[in-house]
Amino acid sequence: MIVAGNWKMFLGPDPAVLARQLEDIAGLDAIVCPSFTRLSACVEAGLTTYAQNVHWEPEGAYTGEVSAPMLLALGVRGAIVGHSERRQYFGETDLGVARRAQFALEAGLHVIACVGESQEERDAGDTETVLRVQVDAIRDGCGPHDRLVLAYEPVWAIGTGLTATPELAQDAQAFIKSLLDRPVLYGGSVKPDNADELLAQPAVDGALVGGASLDIDSFTAICRSAARIRS
Ligand code: PGA
Repeated sequence: MIVAGNWKMFLGPDPAVLARQLEDIAGLDAIVCPSFTRLSACVEAGLTTYAQNVHWEPEGAYTGEVSAPMLLALGVRGAIVGHSERRQYFGETDLGVARRAQFALEAGLHVIACVGESQEERDAGDTETVLRVQVDAIRDGCGPHDRLVLAYEPVWAIGTGLTATPELAQDAQAFIKSLLDRPVLYGGSVKPDNADELLAQPAVDGALVGGASLDIDSFTAICRSAARIRS
């Protein structure tokens, strides 16, 4: 089981306090994904730390980007790629996301690659088509790499308080696994009170947690759920 906290563009909790809280939870990979300025503090606190994005080149004229070798030099272990906020607000494409994932894996990072449909796409009955296009791009770039994890994050459930039902998450994630056989995390308004039923689904291999990861007690409670379910 994997539980990753995506702190987005928030300062997030105190890494040392969080690390102490997580210390006694066994059987779980707990990951934090802070913004760039907090990566080092999280690494130093002993937390498994991922960046929120990574570029495909080792260096170059790419203002505002960061590379896999730079992250590895800091002690960062992985990166999220293809978060829907990157796709939606910063124009990231399926091909670009696949390149980021591919080169990050080749450089030695772990990768959480995000996919998910919008409300309009779901309403139009296009969920599987959208997921297929997104997952195929990642599969073509990376194959079933052993440091690759996918995250199913329906756009309509992110930061909205609308969580996918466990059945909906199970169906979408089983479909994703049929396209690319890697662990799939669920993301979208995961909270302590819905974590148990989501994480109990067989195709749900963990959670990518946004808002609730900013609160140490909430994040720890979700981590405890995950550890309990697979123990
Ligand atoms: P949320 O965000 O838990 O606040 O919905 C999830 C994410 O964006 O990864």
